[in-house]
Amino acid sequence: MQRSAPSSPPPEWVRRRTPADLAACTWLLAEVHRADAYPSPWPEDPVAWLARPDLAGAWVVELESAVAGHVALTRSGLVTRLMVAPWARRHGLAVRLLGVAVARADALALRPSLQVVDTRIAAIALYEAAGWSCTGACVDVRGRRLLRYAASARSPSAPASSPRDEIPSLR
Ligand SMILES: CC(C)(COP(=O)(O)OP(=O)(O)OC[C@H]1O[C@@H](n2cnc3c(N)ncnc32)[C@H](O)[C@@H]1OP(=O)(O)O)[C@@H](O)C(=O)NCCC(=O)NCCS
Repeated sequence: MQRSAPSSPPPEWVRRRTPADLAACTWLLAEVHRADAYPSPWPEDPVAWLARPDLAGAWVVELESAVAGHVALTRSGLVTRLMVAPWARRHGLAVRLLGVAVARADALALRPSLQVVDTRIAAIALYEAAGWSCTGACVDVRGRRLLRYAASARSPSAPASSPRDEIPSLR
C-alpha cells in the first residue's frame, strides 16, 4: 500500500492485535520486507509467522485507520516481530510499540529481551535510543551475527506507570 508520509506527528492508537488484523499485518509485513528485507527469508506462511503459538501478546499501531506498525511478545519475554511501515517511520511509533510490549512483560514478571541482526542499523539505533542494552552476541544458523538486547529497568520503553494490558489512553 503506497501512502505519503504524515507531515506532522499524527494521532495514533496502539491496541491489541485481533485475528481480523492479520490480513493487514501481512500487507504490512510485505511492505517492510520489500523495503528492508525483514524478515529474511520471507516466511512460507506469513500469518503463522506473525501469530506464532508462543505469544503472550501482540499489538498493532494504527495511523489514519491503517495498520502502520506491529510488535509481539513471547511467553519467555522475547520482543519480536517489530516493524513499522516505511511511510510511518521516524514518528516514534516503534518506541510506543516497544513500550507496550515492555509494559506487558513487566506485568507478567518477564525480563524483556530481543535479538537483532547486526546489520539492522535502524533497529539497533532504535533499541539504543530507547534505553536497551546489548548483552551479548551469537551467530545464527544462516551465519548472521545476532546481537542480544535487554530492556533496562527504567528505560524509556518501560514506563513505570503504563497500564498493564490494553492501552486505550495511547489513542
Ligand atoms: C526499526 C524500525 C522498527 C523503527 O521504526 P520507527 O517507528 O521509524 O522508529 P521510531 O520513530 O520510534 O524511532 C525512535 C528513535 O530510534 C532511532 N532510529 C529509528 N530509525 C532510525 C534510523 N533509520 N536511523 C537512525 N536512527 C533511527 C532514532 O533515535 C529515533 O528517534 P528520532 O527519530 O527522534 O531520531 C523500522 O525502521 C522498521 O520497521 N525497520 C524494518 C524492520 C526491522 O528491522 N525490525 C526490527 C527487527 S529486530
